[in-house]
Amino acid sequence: MVEVRHHLATGIAFGAPSLQALATDTSRRHQLLARHYEARLLAGMPPLKARLFANENPFGPSEKAKQAIIDSLRDSYMYAFMSMKQLVSQTAQEEGVKEENILLGAGSSELLLAAALHYTLSTKGGKIVSADPSYTWMMEAAVEHGGGWEKVPLTKDYMHDLDGMEKRVNAGTSLVYICNPNNPTGTVVNPEKLRSFCEAVSRKKPVFVDEAYIDYTDDPKKHSMVDCVRKGQNVMVARTFSKLHAFAGLRVGYLVAQPATIKLMKKYCSGGFDMSAPSVAAATASLQDTEFREYARAKNAESKAFLCKTLKEEGMNTYRRMPISYFSR
Ligand SMILES: Cc1ncc(COP(=O)(O)O)c(C=O)c1O
Repeated sequence: MVEVRHHLATGIAFGAPSLQALATDTSRRHQLLARHYEARLLAGMPPLKARLFANENPFGPSEKAKQAIIDSLRDSYMYAFMSMKQLVSQTAQEEGVKEENILLGAGSSELLLAAALHYTLSTKGGKIVSADPSYTWMMEAAVEHGGGWEKVPLTKDYMHDLDGMEKRVNAGTSLVYICNPNNPTGTVVNPEKLRSFCEAVSRKKPVFVDEAYIDYTDDPKKHSMVDCVRKGQNVMVARTFSKLHAFAGLRVGYLVAQPATIKLMKKYCSGGFDMSAPSVAAATASLQDTEFREYARAKNAESKAFLCKTLKEEGMNTYRRMPISYFSR
């Protein structure tokens, strides 16, 4: 889904022959797409229902989440202490961890930023090791604050080069960032290989696994690295409600990590206080709405199949590796 969306939007919006060049520069691509979208609105064109370049989910939020927002408005003059506590507890239960392993954020971006700041500053400008191309938010923030960025190219079939990444980890490394499934390629790392990687590398340096799209894999529990946190490893897992739950505008995310790590992160983020009470209420309702989650997964699979078929008819090949596709001319 991810890669197809980004490339489709990029290629079609700009007629760009150099798709690969743009793919290696996520932030430039986002800027171009945002500018294109703004130009559409200024030209009086209707807003797009689905902005594929932003990886938003146009099939939600669920009716139960919307109702929870309406119901929460009456009490929204109060801070959301109690409902935040409830969301932490529910999230911990969902992930099979303790409440002290959970840190809420106003979207996972806030948590990626907190990790970038903490590990860059505490290592006095250490380098983040990441795949390239990958989701650049954390590394760009680190570089802006004096950190470094060690880019390890994806393999020829757009997979993370875990061996190559491990070799680049040294005393000057601040953190290792893995985006799985990867944005923008949509490829998924073999879960057992990633588990071994986390176990070995986290003994030397912290490993941050960004699982924004994990719900779109065939078996999210099998692919998630939350069990590494459960085993006490120095691994952080970021999750978001923006994708499957369709909460991009509501801003809810969380980090699963060791309690000591969470304490350190809290120096650089709101610890959940930047989320609004209606967002917290909606997330609590959406977590319980398994029917909606299945519906959103099915709609995504259906849309992906349609897109792949359409691209094929247009003479483009889709690169298929479970569960998401990549295409090239
Ligand atoms: C890989 C990845 N991580 C994190 C995010 C940030 O999501 P949010 O801040 O909405 O939780 C995105 C958004 O597109 C993403 O693609």
